[in-house]
Amino acid sequence: MSTDIFSEIADTGYRENLEDINSEEFFKVIKSRRSVRVFKDEPVKEEDMQKILDAAVLAPNSSNLQPWEFYWVKNATKKKALVEACLSQPAAATAPELIVCIARTDTWRANSKTMLNLLNEKEGVPAAAKTYYEKLVPLVYTQGPLSLFGFFKRIAIFFTGFKKVTPREPVSNSQMITWATKSTALGCENIMLAARALGYDSCPMEGADSKRIKDILHLGSGAHLVMVISIGKRDEKGVYGEQIRFDRSKFIKILE
Ligand SMILES: Cc1cc2nc3c(=O)[nH]c(=O)nc-3n(C[C@H](O)[C@H](O)[C@H](O)COP(=O)(O)O)c2cc1C
Repeated sequence: MSTDIFSEIADTGYRENLEDINSEEFFKVIKSRRSVRVFKDEPVKEEDMQKILDAAVLAPNSSNLQPWEFYWVKNATKKKALVEACLSQPAAATAPELIVCIARTDTWRANSKTMLNLLNEKEGVPAAAKTYYEKLVPLVYTQGPLSLFGFFKRIAIFFTGFKKVTPREPVSNSQMITWATKSTALGCENIMLAARALGYDSCPMEGADSKRIKDILHLGSGAHLVMVISIGKRDEKGVYGEQIRFDRSKFIKILE
């Protein structure tokens, strides 16, 4: 299967206007985002929650297969159960709103078909883009029962990889969880930054009972809890201390 689609430059004729960005404001948003554990008893505006959710699904995502779902749990009974499933952490219990962020390993096939239908409706879409969704996507993301197909792909990749630069993952159902989680986590960051930009705060939580949360949302085995995010106005005692990060040289490596 050719991977030329990755190496060829396609000029589709599409051009997009770039908006000016106030970079100072942008970095203010990044720097003022903190994990807030206590929220004020103040509502989040409906329109702001919708903007925050819209930001989530604008995140970049693998093959544009959008392997995520974001559940804004408004229902009072479900929200109470969700707070309990988040170990009744104050970050959940005091939060006016909660969003459950789910990675999906079972929606890529349907989403690929939707993408292909959309591409077929558009003018001037390169044939390679359609072939990508028709041929490459099923080959790359199908793993089969017990990851058996993935196992055969892994062996084939092992040998072709000697001669050729080859994408190697995902080749198992568990790697599919990593695959979907990467994209979903980017949506999560968008949620938290959008909340901050709109004057709210957030707390990401993985201290939660994933099985109970999936039961609350009636989700099956193709759904994987990435995190629950609380949204609200920060209480003045909501941030527990100064932001701590180790020396940047520990994590940032510049290869010259
Ligand atoms: C995936 C993930 C899971 C987290 N889970 C929790 C959690 O369950 N409860 C909590 O209070 N904070 C949780 N946090 C927040 C982290 O503790 C916090 O991001 C970290 O201490 C750095 O602080 P800062 O976000 O204020 O910079 C989580 C963060 C991430 C990214």
